[in-house]
Amino acid sequence: MTDKRKPVRVWCDGCYDMVHFGHANSLRQAKALGDYLVVGVHTDEEITKHKGPPVFTEQERYKMVRGIKWVDQVVEGAPYVTTLETLNKYDCDFCVHGDDITMTADGIDTYHLVKAAGRYKEVQRTAGVSTTDLVGRMLLMTRGHFKQGDSEYSIDREPSANMGQDRSARSPWTGCSKFLPTTQKIIQFSDGKSAQPSDKIVYVAGAFDLFHVGHLDFLEVAKKEGDYLIVGLHTDPAVNRYKFGNHPIMNLHERVLSVLACKYVNEVVIGAPYEVTKDLMEHFNVSIVCHGQTSIMPCENGADPYAEPKRQNKFKLLNSGNDMTTEKIVERIILHRSQE
Ligand code: CTP
Ligand code: C5P
Repeated sequence: MTDKRKPVRVWCDGCYDMVHFGHANSLRQAKALGDYLVVGVHTDEEITKHKGPPVFTEQERYKMVRGIKWVDQVVEGAPYVTTLETLNKYDCDFCVHGDDITMTADGIDTYHLVKAAGRYKEVQRTAGVSTTDLVGRMLLMTRGHFKQGDSEYSIDREPSANMGQDRSARSPWTGCSKFLPTTQKIIQFSDGKSAQPSDKIVYVAGAFDLFHVGHLDFLEVAKKEGDYLIVGLHTDPAVNRYKFGNHPIMNLHERVLSVLACKYVNEVVIGAPYEVTKDLMEHFNVSIVCHGQTSIMPCENGADPYAEPKRQNKFKLLNSGNDMTTEKIVERIILHRSQE
């Protein structure tokens, strides 16, 4: 018997500035409450009016939300206060938001209309991550934060005490990262599909720190090289070795969820070796290894990390046409602060 039930259409809206896995997790939960997820994203003008200018432009923010795998449709320039007209226009049954209050510049709950009409549902906000907290990490981390030779998960506690600004996000256990990763979260974010024997497997590796539009555009072109995309994520000490200073800003667990939320990604290697070895390529049956336009840092012993795929004629440099980097985001934030 075919299912004649009318599909449940769910509405979410927000700024989605500096999209992180907390946003992705709220969209995942919202999608699970229905069948089709419509996400309204506010314009730069509207956000500036109510809470100050966003770091990312509306075009970048629309693209990032479209890149999240639970999103079916993005509505550009959605109003800050969610109205019943908006829900009706997109044929949405109800609106979903995290369990925090969002106010307009005049102190009005942006969901008061949909709440009064009984067309509002709440999902649990992801503890331990917020844009404010990430900005805090970027601005306040000292250069010595990740020390060379530290073990994978050890975190320097002294500077971390000054780091995040989101008090609800603090944890005495995880230092600078206040997010507590669980296997359950990884399962929820994973698409659970294994590669088919006939699939052409694409492998890319990197830091993917503060997952941004540059990464998204790169993964989109990488996915087009085959059928199944595997992303290898380097460990925190490995990233710190080649990116220096404060990097990575998000730890390995956080980076795993950010990358898994991307619709082009099928699988993630949690703590991939820096060098793409013969073993790794055989293990995952890799057909092609890709890298974007950023420079390729040598391995600790000076070797080219892509020597093996190059030898096998399975290496390709890709150009997504997007030159965004994590460093540029930090520069934007510093510029922002100086203009406040
Ligand atoms: N959200 C969440 N968990 C977080 C951060 C955000 O569930 N850690 C949810 C919000 O509750 C909302 C949606 O993501 O339903 C979009 O929120 P948005 O307006 O973009 O962001 P903020 O709530 O301001 O979050 P942040 O401070 O991280 O930007
Ligand atoms: O710098 P990171 O290790 O996070 O980059 C991961 C991958 O994304 C690399 O292959 C890099 O070249 C690519 N990338 C890109 N365009 C950007 C940023 C990253 O192609 N703007």
